[in-house]
Amino acid sequence: MSFTVAIDGPAAAGKGTVSRGVARHFGFAHLDTGLLYRAVGWRMLQGEEPVAAAEALVAEDLEPEALRGADVAQAASKVAVIPEVRAALVDFQRAFARRAGGAVLDGRDIGTVICPEAEVKLFVTASPEVRAERRFLELDAKGADVTRAQVLADVRERDARDTERSEAPLKPADDAVLLDTSDLSIEDALARAVALIQQKF
Ligand code: C5P
Repeated sequence: MSFTVAIDGPAAAGKGTVSRGVARHFGFAHLDTGLLYRAVGWRMLQGEEPVAAAEALVAEDLEPEALRGADVAQAASKVAVIPEVRAALVDFQRAFARRAGGAVLDGRDIGTVICPEAEVKLFVTASPEVRAERRFLELDAKGADVTRAQVLADVRERDARDTERSEAPLKPADDAVLLDTSDLSIEDALARAVALIQQKF
């Protein structure tokens, strides 16, 4: 049996934490689809042509630690506007979504383009200021040399590129449930997501 949970939303809204928590709770497999675009962005920074890099992508390229940086995130959002890059990554994501035992995919276009038939669609969001503050604290804890203003500018730039692109822009699917995490703890956000999925599972 396949059961797909699609979780979309902007950067640092809490998608990753909610997705991992949901996967653990229900025993589903989890795919952070941002890693696909980050891996292509990383290869572009190494001088590769993005479409060829996307077509040649293999699971071993999805190494989370090497792909975390802000430079890779920006590169990811640049390659993500290229229709041929997106097209090259579709089959892998759809096959993952259909695997037996259930799957959670998080990204920007899972409920709208990759898995329009997903059993549950969530759109996880929060204000840009709240998201930037979360991302700043995360980076600061790792000793990164960044200011709050830089992180907020970075978040806004990526939001703009993701929502304004013509191919698979970031937006909630018509039948997505909105989860605004601005004033929620991680635990509360996860509890709401679990309760919603429980109703359909
Ligand atoms: O989720 P994450 O911040 O790691 O994604 C990095 C970038 O990859 C996003 O800013 C977005 O441009 C792109 N992306 C996308 N579609 C997805 C996942 C990520 O366009 N499904």
